[in-house]
Amino acid sequence: MLSREQLLHAAETHGTPLYVYDARVLDERIQRAIQAFSGAKIFFAMKANSNLHIVRRMKDQGLGFEVVSYGELHKALHAGVPGERILVNGPAKTLEEYELGQQVGATFILDRLDECHFLKPGAKAIVRVNPELHVSTHSHLATGEAHSKFGIPLGHAAEALQQARDAGLNVRGLHLHIGSAIQNPEDFREAFEKVAHLADEVGHLEVLDVGGGWGLNADLEGIAKIAFEAAKSFGAELWVEPGRFLVSESGVLLTRVVGTKETARKFVLLDAGMTEILRPMLYGAMHPLRPLWDHPETDRFDLAGPACESGDVLARDVELPLPERGNILALEQAGAYGAVMSSTYLSRPRPAEVLWDGDFRVIRRRESLEKLWELEMTSGF
Ligand SMILES: Cc1ncc(COP(=O)(O)O)c(C=O)c1O
Repeated sequence: MLSREQLLHAAETHGTPLYVYDARVLDERIQRAIQAFSGAKIFFAMKANSNLHIVRRMKDQGLGFEVVSYGELHKALHAGVPGERILVNGPAKTLEEYELGQQVGATFILDRLDECHFLKPGAKAIVRVNPELHVSTHSHLATGEAHSKFGIPLGHAAEALQQARDAGLNVRGLHLHIGSAIQNPEDFREAFEKVAHLADEVGHLEVLDVGGGWGLNADLEGIAKIAFEAAKSFGAELWVEPGRFLVSESGVLLTRVVGTKETARKFVLLDAGMTEILRPMLYGAMHPLRPLWDHPETDRFDLAGPACESGDVLARDVELPLPERGNILALEQAGAYGAVMSSTYLSRPRPAEVLWDGDFRVIRRRESLEKLWELEMTSGF
């Protein structure tokens, strides 16, 4: 973990809001997953953090990538990821994604059967099934429930495999992903067992991909054990797609105290909010907080960002040492679904990102104001 002095130095040098990643934590998480899932293939869910430097670091440690847009596909290729190490996923893929993915030899995750029409015979595919399972996470993060938009209902999976084969595709196996930030490890067991039962109907498969969704403190060995068992029932190789687990802990968002105020509640106003980190507003995510200042007295505050939106609140009722303007607060576990979800709403340039790897290296420059309106410089301006 980076020390208070290191984080304050980064904020001083690069300004705030600022994403700071620690390469040691990133590498440790990658290696932990590689060890727990030894014998399986790991595809990093690139949506969690698509910074080129982070992608390249994962690629160099042997990981593959699950991509969900033309942009992510291009970016992975640009980072030097070989096509065979890419899974092209998404419920509504574009023609460009089908074309480029096939050109580079990627494997497609079929989310519905009529995708077969967009793929040439011989294209590699796995079929996503929906295990129809209620899971222990925020409803926006659950992806394997009966009413969700993802996958093919379990009862139609065998038929779907056959139809994809009949369409001439190189159908390698099945895929499932029950959701993100799964709280209860039993959800994985239930989902994997439900899918393993399909073995009686579909027989041998080359691949079983069980997705990601591991909590930050997940018992990886426990999940690996039941995942390998499920894969074994098909005689299949195991594939996994962690996102959050690999990058979340390595990143913090540094934000500066702008001031305090009191309405019916006490607020600390910060220079980062929904435009820099959307997770608290989108999923009610609670990021551990690390104040980088001291004061003998504490009080309870709501933490609010600078947006003119009443939903722009990062946390409620948290105890902090009494803050003053200029103090720096670190929001921890911000390496996943943090910077990638930042936006330019309110014409706010997106934050810079730096990586600690013996010293601080800028891995994404702070967006400039000119960049914000560059694409609007059409005739007349
Ligand atoms: C298909 C698929 N695989 C993997 C992931 C990664 O999930 P997590 O970051 O929770 O590990 C996601 C996340 O949305 C996903 O949709």
